[in-house]
Amino acid sequence: MAHARTDAMTDTHFGFQSVDEAEKAQRVRGVFTSVASRYDVMNDLMSIGLHRAWKAYTVAVANLREGDRVLDIAGGTGDLARAFARKVGANGLVLHTDINEAMLRQGRDRLLDEGLLLPTLICDAESLPLPDASFDLVSVAFGLRNMTHKEQALAEMARVLRPGGRLLVLEFSKVAAPLARAYDWYSFNVLPRLGQWVAGDGDSYRYLAESIRMHPDQAALKAMMKTVGFGHVDVHNLTGGVVALHVGVHC
Ligand SMILES: C[S@@+](CC[C@H](N)C(=O)[O-])C[C@H]1O[C@@H](n2cnc3c(N)ncnc32)[C@H](O)[C@@H]1O
Repeated sequence: MAHARTDAMTDTHFGFQSVDEAEKAQRVRGVFTSVASRYDVMNDLMSIGLHRAWKAYTVAVANLREGDRVLDIAGGTGDLARAFARKVGANGLVLHTDINEAMLRQGRDRLLDEGLLLPTLICDAESLPLPDASFDLVSVAFGLRNMTHKEQALAEMARVLRPGGRLLVLEFSKVAAPLARAYDWYSFNVLPRLGQWVAGDGDSYRYLAESIRMHPDQAALKAMMKTVGFGHVDVHNLTGGVVALHVGVHC
């Protein structure tokens, strides 16, 4: 017999499936724990290296100065944190954070191998254990899509930014119409097979393709950012909208 749901058991989506909110967080954790050791090589393969250009563009737009304080959320294996650390220098701060210990360990080890020791913190973006107005810039690359309460996470990002501080959200978005058929074919036919072959996990890369389709498009994410306190938001479409960089000013 089906049981009535209580208020505490709100449904959300995990890719195309409808799941409890608690189950989503657990399954997202499973995805990244499973792929952590092959995450970087998969990024290069599945984007044919393009993720490096998208991140380099994000670093250029960040336009950091010596001494700036940066929070990298969902920082994973540390691509942005590393680039930011080089910009802010010894007087600045880059706090490398993620909810997933396996991803964060992978990143920390990689940065240590490159001679970079950054403060790292395991934390949920939806409830940041950090003081108000304590950063000049917050970044989240390919992480927001995986969060259950995106608006809550964005509100937390606004809270920890100083007035005038900026949030950079780099995320998959809605592709331009002429690219849509080829992109769908690639996402649902090639990606899961590549994931199975390289990371031994096709399901996680099927989730990636599905979660991209469920993520708010450029306009919806811009509206969400405005709702939580980003008075000005610019949207930069990259590679025909495969990815978008949203830049919000906390004002
Ligand atoms: C696709 S990876 C992105 C890693 C890195 N930023 C990059 O661009 O390569 C997504 C990351 O989001 C993290 N994540 C998912 N939900 C999160 C949450 N609620 N709070 C913080 N991090 C989260 C995952 O653990 C994972 O490391």
